[in-house]
Amino acid sequence: MLTLKSKMDIKPAQKNLVEWYAENHRALPWRQNRDPYRIWISETMLQQTTTTAVIPFFERFVERFPTLKSLASAPVEHVLEAWAGLGYYSRARNLHKAAIALDALKEFPCRHDQLADFPGFGPYTSRSVSSLAFDEPVGVVDGNVIRVLARFYAADWDWWQSKARAGIQALADEWVQGVSSYEMNQALMELGRTICMPKSPHCLLCPVRKSCKSFGTGLVARLPKPKPKRAREFWIWEPRLEIVKGRVLLEKNTTVPFLRDQWLLPGTARRVNSKPKTFDYKHTITHHDIFVTVKGPESQHIAANQIQWVQLQEIRQYVPASLVQKAFAHHAAAQPGDVQKRAKKLRARSPAHP
Ligand code: ADE
Repeated sequence: MLTLKSKMDIKPAQKNLVEWYAENHRALPWRQNRDPYRIWISETMLQQTTTTAVIPFFERFVERFPTLKSLASAPVEHVLEAWAGLGYYSRARNLHKAAIALDALKEFPCRHDQLADFPGFGPYTSRSVSSLAFDEPVGVVDGNVIRVLARFYAADWDWWQSKARAGIQALADEWVQGVSSYEMNQALMELGRTICMPKSPHCLLCPVRKSCKSFGTGLVARLPKPKPKRAREFWIWEPRLEIVKGRVLLEKNTTVPFLRDQWLLPGTARRVNSKPKTFDYKHTITHHDIFVTVKGPESQHIAANQIQWVQLQEIRQYVPASLVQKAFAHHAAAQPGDVQKRAKKLRARSPAHP
């Protein structure tokens, strides 16, 4: 069992890391200024995916909603539409709810304990906004920082458990003492993203290798400890495409565990023990492997309590989830009329085509 080496003198590592960050950091769009609104949006997006993948989403989002007020006054459907493709739509809904609440205040709260009261502001988001926008001396703990610290201290924490998390938070807080918390937090995250990567880290380029307890040992490859995986679940979903006069029928999902409380197409979903042999397409959401067969309309009326009809052109605003968008794409591809019309259009545009 590896143990946490506490009370290490981290001052030399802090100095080297901050200097390294100053010289090597990437000019990312959310680092242009210290606007808490932009930092909040970017940090929420960055919890989902890589920096490279986030850049175009972030730029489009802040172009469409440049200020807190513009986000607060937009309909939630527009926010969901701008979020489409990033997944975890509850984050976009919370972003919108929090924007309304924050916009009602005189100024943006600057401490993590104040921010923690707003929807979607967990321990990570509240600390990243307070430290990156306002220099509050608190550490931020995301996957990158956990990896850097687990290797640095050669610690085999069960980092997904709250007790271990509290210890990691305390260490991350130590790292921002005596330095700018903006610089240190950015530096730790940047180190995790670009040098101390999960696989094949560039240890020889690492500015803190001299004090790193895992440097030059096999521990770098074994830390942090992998989180035990949740068992995969197989689901069959059979959505019904009910389109009448250009409007689509939607039903609120109150029962199925994926995309819960969101508008979906009406239909049935059931959990199965093995993958089905036939299906139109497969889509994965967290640990759910969903095998989809798109069905046509049914004459029977829907008995569900929460339904609505939405214009086909506006459907992306109401149902941005890729799981459902793929059902429309599948339906369109399967329509011989549409395919023929599209082919005719293409032929008309292309003079080379006979
Ligand atoms: N990941 C999360 N926040 C980040 C940031 N501010 N810079 C780089 N990577 C990050």
